Amino acid sequence: MCGIVGYIGEQQASPIILEGLKKLEYRGYDSAGIASLDNGSSVIRRSQGKLVNLENILRDQPLTGKVGIGHTRWATHGKPSEINAHPHKAGSIIIVHNGIIENYLQLKDQLKQLGHTFKSETDTEVIAHLIEESLKTEADFEQAVRTSLLQLRGAYAVCILNDKEPGVLIAAKLGSPMVVGLGEKEFFVASDIPAILAYTREMVFMEDGEFVIFRSGTAVFSTIAGNSIDKKARHIDWSPMMAEKGGFRHFMLKEIHEQPRAVRDTIAGRLLELDGDVYLENLQFSDRQLAAVKRIIIIACGTSWHAALVGKFYIEGLCRIPVEVDIASEFRYRNPVVDENTLAIVISQSGETADTLAALREAKSRGALNIAICNVVDSSIARESSGVIYTHAGPEIGVASTKAFVTQLTALYLFTIRLGRANCTIDVLHGQRMIAALKKIPGLIEEALRLNDKVEKIAKKYMNARDFLYLGRGKNFPIALEGALKLKEISYIHAEGYPAGEMKHGPIALIDENVPVVVLVPKGNSYEKTISNMEEVITRGGRVIAVCSTGDEEVKKRAETTIEIPNLDEDLDPLLLSVPLQLLSYHISVLKGTDVDQPRNLAKSVTVE
Ligand code: F6R
Repeated sequence: MCGIVGYIGEQQASPIILEGLKKLEYRGYDSAGIASLDNGSSVIRRSQGKLVNLENILRDQPLTGKVGIGHTRWATHGKPSEINAHPHKAGSIIIVHNGIIENYLQLKDQLKQLGHTFKSETDTEVIAHLIEESLKTEADFEQAVRTSLLQLRGAYAVCILNDKEPGVLIAAKLGSPMVVGLGEKEFFVASDIPAILAYTREMVFMEDGEFVIFRSGTAVFSTIAGNSIDKKARHIDWSPMMAEKGGFRHFMLKEIHEQPRAVRDTIAGRLLELDGDVYLENLQFSDRQLAAVKRIIIIACGTSWHAALVGKFYIEGLCRIPVEVDIASEFRYRNPVVDENTLAIVISQSGETADTLAALREAKSRGALNIAICNVVDSSIARESSGVIYTHAGPEIGVASTKAFVTQLTALYLFTIRLGRANCTIDVLHGQRMIAALKKIPGLIEEALRLNDKVEKIAKKYMNARDFLYLGRGKNFPIALEGALKLKEISYIHAEGYPAGEMKHGPIALIDENVPVVVLVPKGNSYEKTISNMEEVITRGGRVIAVCSTGDEEVKKRAETTIEIPNLDEDLDPLLLSVPLQLLSYHISVLKGTDVDQPRNLAKSVTVE
C-alpha cells in the first residue's frame, strides 16, 4: 500500500506533489520520491525514510517543471532504501506505482534476456523496462504503455512520464485506488482524495482497467485496451479531516473496511494453484529443512498472540507438528526448551515490540530456526529473523489492531500450506482446496462488512453493560479472546474471552441478566457442543449475542440477538468471525464517546519492556 501523486498543468509540479504526498503518508512512509520534467529532461529526487527527508533534499535542490509524479512507499518487493524508492526510470520512461505485480519475476527474466539491466529489487522497475522495450515496436508512447500494462498480472495504479514527451502524463489503474482531480487547465492524479483536495473538489474515480492520458490541457479517458469511455466528475464536499480517513469517521473503521484489500494483497502473487502450494518470497527454507522441523513455538504479544493461537490449530491440525504458543514477555524469562529442531515463529504487526524482539533473540541464541510474520518491512524483527512472511495490510494507524490481525491469520494459513506440502501432510489436492477457500475470503469479508448497520444497532442495545463475556471453541476461542480485547481496549468495558466448555468451571457464576455473552457458534465440528454452552448461559438468564452461520434457525430460536456470517470452511471462520466483533467494539466505543483511534494508556508500538 503506497501513495502516488501526479500533476500536469501551469504551476510548478513538485511543491503540489510534495503536499499531496504528505496527505498520503498514512499509506506508507519508508521512502519517497518525486520526478519532474522540464525542457525535455527529467530529474528525480528520492530519499529513504519519512517524507521529511525528501522535503529537506528538495529545499536544497528544488525541482522545476510543470509536470511531475511522486510516491510515498510502503515496501513490498525490495527493502526500504533509496535505490528501491520510486520513481523508477528505464531509458526515457519514469514511473510510480502502487500495487503488486505478480508476474514480475517472469517478466524481469525475459527483459534481462533482451539486455535490460535493473537497478532496484522492485516489481515496479519491471514496468518501466517493459514500456521502454515496447517503445521499440509500438507506434508511440501511449500505445507502448497500453501494450505493456496488458502484460501485467496483479494490481497497480501507475503514473508514467516520458522524457521524450514532456507534455504528456499517463495514468492507469487495476486493483489499486486512483482518483483524478480536474482543475483550471491542470490535472491531478492521486491514490486518495486528501492528496488533491486542497486544489480541486471535482474528481473522477478511476475504475479497474481504466487509462487516462493528459496532454495539451485535456484528459482523455479510455480502457487500457483502448476503448473510449465516458467518465463523469463528482463534486467532493468532504472536510480535510474526513478525507484523510477516506470518508470514515475513524482510522479504525477505515482499516476494518480495508480488510478485503489487505487479505487480497497478502495472498497476491503467492498462490501456486496447480501445485496446491504457496510461494513465500522471503522464506527460502528448503523442503528438507522444513520437513525436519519437529516442534514449533509461536511467540507474540496482544492481538498478534491471538493470531498465534489460531496458528497452533492450523499447524497442528494440518501439518501434525506439535506447536506451543507463548507470550513474548513470558517466554524470555522462563528458560524455554528450544533447540536446533525447533522452529520459532514470531508474530508482530510493527516488528518493533520489545518483548517479541527479545524473544526472537532468545530463540536464536538457543539455535532455533526462526521466521517472523510482520507487517512493517525491514522492521527490527523482520531484519533479525532468518525468514519473514510479510502481511501486506499496509500501515495500521488505529491503535486497536484489525486489518493486521486478519492478515496475520492469512499469513499463518499460507505458511501452513507451505509446511504441509514440504512435510507431505498436505497433498496437492488438499492444498488446492485450501487455496480455493482462501481466495474466497476477501469477497466474504466484504459480505461480513455489510453487517455494519445491524451491528451498530446491536451496539446501542448492549453499550451500557459493565461486563461482557466472549465464548468460543477450538480455533474460535482465540477469536473470543480477540473480541474481548478489542472491546476493553477501546470502550473500557471489562470483557473476558473463554473457551466455551470451560465456562462451567468458574465464569458461569458471573452470568446474569446484566452480562451480555457473545457466543461464537458457526457451523462446524464444535457446533453442537457450543449450542449446549449457549443453553447453559440462557438458562441462567444470560443475554446471548450469537455469531452464527447465515440461516442458522436453531441459533436464531435461542439467542436474544444473532449476527449471521457467511459459512465457507471451518478453518477460515476465524477471519470472518473477527469482522462483526471488530465492528461491535467500534460502535460501542463511538457511542460511549471514547477515543477510538488512540485509546487511553495505549501505544501503537510497544518498544519498551
Ligand atoms: C491490540 C494491539 C496490541 C498489539 C501488541 C503487539 O489491538 O494492537 O495488543 O497486538 O502490542 O504488537 P505487535 O503486533 O506490533 O508486536
